[in-house]
Amino acid sequence: MEFLLTEEQKMLKEMVAKFASEKIGPVASENERNHRYPKEIIAEAAELGLMGIAYPTEYGGAGMDYVSYFLAVEEVSRWCASTGVIISAHSSLACDPIYRFGTEEQKQRFLPDLLSGKKIGAFSLTESEAGSDSSNTKTVARKDGNKWVINGSKLFATNGNEADVFILIARSGENKHNLSAFIVERNMPGYRIGKLEKKLGIRSSSTAEIILEDVVIPEENLLGEISKGFKLSMVTLDGGRLGIASQALGIARASIEDSIKFAKERVQFDQPIANFQAIQWMIADMWTEYESALLLTWRASMMKDRGMNYSREAAMAKLKASEVAMFCANKAIQIHGGYGYTEDFNVERYYRDAKITELYEGTSEIQRLVISRSLIGKI
Ligand code: CAA
Repeated sequence: MEFLLTEEQKMLKEMVAKFASEKIGPVASENERNHRYPKEIIAEAAELGLMGIAYPTEYGGAGMDYVSYFLAVEEVSRWCASTGVIISAHSSLACDPIYRFGTEEQKQRFLPDLLSGKKIGAFSLTESEAGSDSSNTKTVARKDGNKWVINGSKLFATNGNEADVFILIARSGENKHNLSAFIVERNMPGYRIGKLEKKLGIRSSSTAEIILEDVVIPEENLLGEISKGFKLSMVTLDGGRLGIASQALGIARASIEDSIKFAKERVQFDQPIANFQAIQWMIADMWTEYESALLLTWRASMMKDRGMNYSREAAMAKLKASEVAMFCANKAIQIHGGYGYTEDFNVERYYRDAKITELYEGTSEIQRLVISRSLIGKI
């Protein structure tokens, strides 16, 4: 499939694959099982420019395209899905809205530190009563002279525990979709981290509750226009969904590659189990599903690079890739048999990690809603 990529994209993919297999792979399982944030790995990824791949060099980015960035998320996630989502949430959900909607002053102020990985970014939309119904936001931003005062609490923020810069969505008016986006900084008084979630998978990445008590935000930290924060979130999530699709592709490919290796080594009935058609067909189905999801993801990524509207295509890519990740991780355990159910092999981690891709940045049901609304209309 690589014939669809440019020479530059292929080189980036190769470089990240080498880095991920040599540096991330060996420590991924231990970190994940111990809920350990891979600080040193993120620092090395930053050195390689992976925290700002798709942004112009004038702001400290690597000056490449989105396809390259999504390829990198897949290569990293092939070895560690937690590290994949740390990079994806940082880039797609924090850097991207600042780059797309920020004023020149905001870009100059925030992007260099974020794109160089000196600072980590996060995005905070979800609340206890605003999950799929994301505009049911109760966190309120009240205008007070030339400042905003924010009160409320947010849930499930990826990178929440490490982030220095948050894109925070709060209610700024009574109408359901009257939300605004703010750039909140970690050191602002009244801002604190609440509960850290204990999760089924991706345990090396933090998922945090954010509590805001009378947090005073200067006018210059309003991101985009007042009351346009809902659309800003939706546009941001279109890109984020491709990050998650790429993460899911990485998990799927890991499942397939580990299964092939195991099937060639595992001897039963006096021969490697790869000789059995039952195994061969599972591998064939896994790869066919993987490449279908890959094509959907690359198509949507290329549309994003071309400035086209790609909301539906991003939803299709995320829907397909996350279901393929679950399918492949499940089959990988089947191929590994009882061993696959133990921590002696990585496939149990892939299975746990795969599930989240069907949930965050819009559940599979929300992806289906986005796709069907674009075809049928909103009924
Ligand atoms: N691009 C641009 N505009 C968009 C848009 C998009 N992708 N999607 C919607 N809009 C616009 C609509 O056109 C509409 O505009 P008008 O008012 O001008 O007509 C407006 O936004 C409202 O749209 P809807 O009426 O469709 O809104 P809705 O309330 O019905 O919600 C939804 C739509 C698709 C269900 C949306 O709420 C949604 O995506 N929900 C899922 C939220 C989600 O993905 N959350 C994950 C949060 S992040 C996370 O997971 C944690 C993490 O850190 C990784």
